[in-house]
Order: sequence, then C-alpha cells, then structure tokens
Amino acid sequence: EDMTKSELIEHLNETVKPDEGSIPAFVIADPKIYDLEHRKVFMKTWIFIGHETEIPNKNDYMLRDLAGYSIIVSRNADMSIRAFYNMCTHRGMKLCRADKGNKSAFVCPYHGFNFKNNGDLIGVPLQKSIYGEELDKSTMGLTEVRIESYKGLLFGTWNEEAEPLDDFLGDFKWYLDILVGRAEMEVIGVPQRFVIHSNWKIGADNFVGDSYHTMVTHGSIAKLGMVPSATYSKMGYQIHSDHGHGLNLGTPNPDFAFPEELIDEYKANLTEEQFEVLSTLKNMIGNIFPHLSFLISHTKVKGQLISNTTVRLWRPIDHDKMEVIAWFLVEKNASEDWKRRSRESFVLTFSPSGIFEQDDTEVFTDITAAAKGPMPVMKQLTYNYTMGMHREPVDFIGPGVAYDDKFSEANQRNFYKYWLELMNS
Ligand code: FES
Ligand code: FE
Repeated sequence: EDMTKSELIEHLNETVKPDEGSIPAFVIADPKIYDLEHRKVFMKTWIFIGHETEIPNKNDYMLRDLAGYSIIVSRNADMSIRAFYNMCTHRGMKLCRADKGNKSAFVCPYHGFNFKNNGDLIGVPLQKSIYGEELDKSTMGLTEVRIESYKGLLFGTWNEEAEPLDDFLGDFKWYLDILVGRAEMEVIGVPQRFVIHSNWKIGADNFVGDSYHTMVTHGSIAKLGMVPSATYSKMGYQIHSDHGHGLNLGTPNPDFAFPEELIDEYKANLTEEQFEVLSTLKNMIGNIFPHLSFLISHTKVKGQLISNTTVRLWRPIDHDKMEVIAWFLVEKNASEDWKRRSRESFVLTFSPSGIFEQDDTEVFTDITAAAKGPMPVMKQLTYNYTMGMHREPVDFIGPGVAYDDKFSEANQRNFYKYWLELMNS
C-alpha cells in the first residue's frame, strides 16, 4: 500500500524474522521491495560481471550489466582489465552496442568521439576547426567502474566505499577455490541467457540452501537412473559464512568425476583439506550474495560420470522478472574430448534445455505468480524457513558454519539476515 520508505523498512524489520525461520511472502514480488533492493543491495555490494577468460586477448571487450547499468569491460594493451560506464561523455550516447568483440578504441555512433579502451578521449571529428583550442579532451574520459577479481571471477560495484572483494568473500573463498581455483579454468562459449518470470531471490534461495526440493521437483531424474537415489540430495554438508554466502556439499561420490590426469594440478592449487573435499565431492551448489549461484554437478554421459562446473546470475529485470545468465567453466588443461563431454553434461542438466533447469523454472515462475496474490492474503502469508533450527553446527575441515546434512534452511536464514541488514543500511 502507500507506505513511505521508512515505514516500509520498519515493516520489514517487524515481519522479516530469519532467526525465527519466518519470511513474509510479500518480499518476493512487491515492486517497492524491488526498488529498495536496487538501491540498498545491488548498488552497494559486489556484483559478478564475468570471467577473465571471456576476454583473453588484448583489446577484447564485453558489455555487461552492473545493477541495471551497461558497462564496457575491456582488456587493455597491458593485459589489465578495466571497466567503464557505457556512455559517451559528449552528449551521453550509449558508446558501445555490441555484446562483445575486439577493439582498442570505441567510436561513438552519434558524433564520432573516439575513446581508447583505457577510457581516454583520443579523437574528436574536426576538432581543430570547430572547437579551436577550447576543448580539453583530457577532462572528457569515460567514467571508470570499480572492479576486482578473485581467481578469474570478475566483480564490479558502484559503491566507492564497498569493502575489498577479498573481505566481502571472506571465508567463502575456501570453497570458491574448489569451484574455480582448483585448476586453470576457462569459460567456453558465450553465456547462455534466458528470461523468466521469476523474482531473483527465488533462484538465490534455491541454490543457497534448497537441497530438499531435489527429490520431489527433480524426482523424475532419479526414476530415470541418472542419479543414484531419490534421497541422495540429503547426504553431505550445508555451510554458510558471513555476508549471506552459502553452499551445499554433496558427499560421498560414487566415482571421481574430474579428469584423472589433472590430479597433480588440483593438488598444486588446493590445500590437502580442499583436495579431500574435491575428491569426495558428489556435487556442490551454492550462492554468493546476492545473486551469483554456482554448481558443480556430476552426470552420467554415455555411461561415464562427468562433472560440469557452472556459475549463473539471477539478474533482476523487474520485481517479477529476471534474466538467467549461465557460464560454463572447464579445466583448461583437460582433453578436448573431456571438455566436450563436460559441456554436454551441463546442457543436459542446467541450461534452457536441461532437465533440472526446466523443472526449477516451473517452480520459480509459479512462486512468483502466487506471491502477487490479493492483499488480504499476502498481508499474512509467510514462508516457513524453520528446517534444521534445532540442530547444532558440526566441525568441518573447511571454514564457516557447517551442518552435517543438506536438509536445513540455515543458509536461507543466513541469506535473509544479511539481506535485511543491507535493506536497513
Ligand atoms: Fe557521443 Fe556526441 S554523443 S559523440
Ligand atoms: Fe532444482
């Protein structure tokens, strides 16, 4: 209804109760919440923008979205990666309009101002004759965007005061090492992109801690024999850390699903403990706050168990709409054959044509539609997040708060706790 911003925040503080396992359903599809999230969450935190290997060569660039704004991410001549707001400083035209390419400079489609990929304005058509000495090009460079990377994952932020990415990821880096630091990894192909009518938080919530749905939503996959049993999704650990990050480690694995010939590389890149996690890993599903989810999953492709590694953004477009952007990553030093089969296993499972993806998408869109229900209902409807509240954390060889199976909603409670903290900031 007609709440002011401060009334809305007050209302959130009264109704969002992660510690009690209760989250009001209106936070999913209320446009006002969405607006507030944009300012308090997406403009404040580190947002994933891509992987360094997407622009491997000098002068490669890609356009990315940073909290709803277009940025150019470009590899300079010195091989450093820099990012700029995609707006010409003359009259504000969108400077670059291609998704990706290779260019050392960008010419504006409006009046032809020419910007080097380090942001400098280097050329103005007819400058001498029309401006004389009056134009100081050195003050008209592109606006640089703050970016940092961790093991190839590139993040950007509009928040000048944001803590360093390293601190934001904190303890969670230990697990990200297994995901993207276990070997030299590369992105293959362009990310898959598709738009669905879902609020972004449902995707984050699903990946951060919802192993429970697997046996039901994806029950048909167990029936097909593609996974060992219907309750396989319970076994393992659920772990979370500060800043709302969380993951689920499925163990034990029936087979080592990574390329055997890379074991030395894994051992060189990981600690003994991390390697132990990798070698007993059945799957690994999680979410880096706010909306970068990741997955290592194993699928049988032609009788052989193959792992695939993906990261994905639930990029918000509106309160009830998001673009899913999914990157496929693979060990650079694996054989071409292994890479191909790994990619096949990704396409079979998580991609617009993947069996898991299609199951999940149905659920995400239906939850979003229902969350737009009539006010008398929505006023009192809360989601139940109490699973595992009676349980104590266990000791685990990695950092964070860990539970010794995956059927818990501790990670979602942790996610919403940080979300509420930011909404209040
Ligand atoms: Fe770009 Fe004029 S708006 S050159
Ligand atoms: Fe699922």
